[in-house]
Amino acid sequence: MTAPGGGAAEKHPDVSRILFSADALAEEVQQLGRAISADYGERSPLLIGILKGVVPFLADLVRAITIPCSLDFLAISSYGSPSRSGNAQILKDLDHPIEGRDVILVEDIVDTGLTLHYLVRTLRQRRPASLVICTLLDRPRRRLVSLPLVYRGFEIPDDFIVGYGLDYQEAYRNLPYIAILRSELHHLA
Ligand code: IMP
Ligand code: MG
Repeated sequence: MTAPGGGAAEKHPDVSRILFSADALAEEVQQLGRAISADYGERSPLLIGILKGVVPFLADLVRAITIPCSLDFLAISSYGSPSRSGNAQILKDLDHPIEGRDVILVEDIVDTGLTLHYLVRTLRQRRPASLVICTLLDRPRRRLVSLPLVYRGFEIPDDFIVGYGLDYQEAYRNLPYIAILRSELHHLA
């Protein structure tokens, strides 16, 4: 079936350039899923997704994982701007304890690293057997705290990006690709 207006994959007028097509994303996510499946084997990992941006990535990632695994979700507030996520607070906590579990914390993008730094510190206190990070995107130039990214998809430049879960003021999450938002439409916080 063809989507109205020529299909969702057509470039949105608010974006200047497509960085990763739906096909490129699918291929990368398959590789991440294969790596996780090979590394964990019998140790059924618990994937914890950080809402909401991670939803499309996590939905594809779990289907690329060929070993038993389970899912949980966290929602955090970062007081509106990515650069201030050091002030993060948990808005929706996990449904189950993680003590003794092999946890993979799944994020859409690691920017300053403050959000994950806070979450890793908080979740370690719950005594998981192991805790690693899986991120689809990494923007190392803006990093403020060092974090080991055990599973890492693409490295990206400084531009503000949207699509495949990533938003600007809650819009564009449903674009099937990842693209650079036109700079006149936003200001990088
Ligand atoms: P960090 O704490 O600075 O690493 O922030 C990570 C969070 O900021 C991500 O989970 C996103 O929600 C948001 N973020 C950072 N960069 C972008 C971007 O380019 N587009 C959309 N959201 C972003
Ligand atoms: Mg996020």
